[in-house]
Amino acid sequence: MKYDNGEAYDLKTKGSYYDFWFEIIDHYLDIYLPEKGEILDAGGGTGEFSIRVTRLRTNISVVNLDISQSMLDQAERKFRKLKLQPRVSNKLGDIQKLPFLDEQFDYVMCFGDAISFCPNVELGFSELVRVAKPQGYIHLSVNSFWGNYHAMLSQNSKHNITFDDLKKYMDTRILHINGNSTGCRSFTLQELKSLADRHTLKIAKKFGAPVFSAPDEWLRDNHIYPEIKKLQYMFCEYENIMEFGNHLNIIYKKI
Ligand SMILES: C[S@@+](CC[C@H](N)C(=O)[O-])C[C@H]1O[C@@H](n2cnc3c(N)ncnc32)[C@H](O)[C@@H]1O
Repeated sequence: MKYDNGEAYDLKTKGSYYDFWFEIIDHYLDIYLPEKGEILDAGGGTGEFSIRVTRLRTNISVVNLDISQSMLDQAERKFRKLKLQPRVSNKLGDIQKLPFLDEQFDYVMCFGDAISFCPNVELGFSELVRVAKPQGYIHLSVNSFWGNYHAMLSQNSKHNITFDDLKKYMDTRILHINGNSTGCRSFTLQELKSLADRHTLKIAKKFGAPVFSAPDEWLRDNHIYPEIKKLQYMFCEYENIMEFGNHLNIIYKKI
């Protein structure tokens, strides 16, 4: 997986701990998605989550919006192959200036750090809130600041991460690798909670996905994998642990 603006985003993650990211998100989507209505997949890229929600609900339609035409072209090919159109459609656009009506969507999801790539996160977030219906949900999945911090320290040699990268990360919240900015911002749980206060939202749920990593050989072991999965579910809602996980997820309710 390449963490730039998404052009080379690769979702072939089987056998890696990213599997838990998908599985845990699906678990909570299944709880919070409406039975019918319109879903926005903001920064949806190649449409992976748009496809997943159509499997979870038969009576919903999804708009997959992205700023990159090449990501949308890949999504288009997948949707066509799976015969998902017109239930699922693509739209070129910027999260910071959404081409939709106020209160149009029943569920707004923004996963895989799409909001984190916005130069103006606050503007992007207010747009997500604007297009959500009252009583609807806005679901973010973003890199955890402390999870990344820990990963930078423990994987520095594997990814050529220098102490300067770490300092820049601490100052800007933006992940730097070998002197280069990835453009991807991370968040603390406190920052995500304060978004709720500023936009008069309730927090319906927060969880880490995944909350910890495991050696690849354990993940490929058919006996160990389900045990690790149980542990992920056991701990993913514990605040102190979720901050050390990979992605923080927060589901806001518009009131
Ligand atoms: C890491 S990918 C995640 C894709 C998808 N949400 C997922 O989780 O599989 C981030 C996506 O955000 C998109 N993106 C970045 N900035 C954006 C913006 N301002 N408006 C819309 N999409 C944006 C990128 O083009 C890319 O497809």
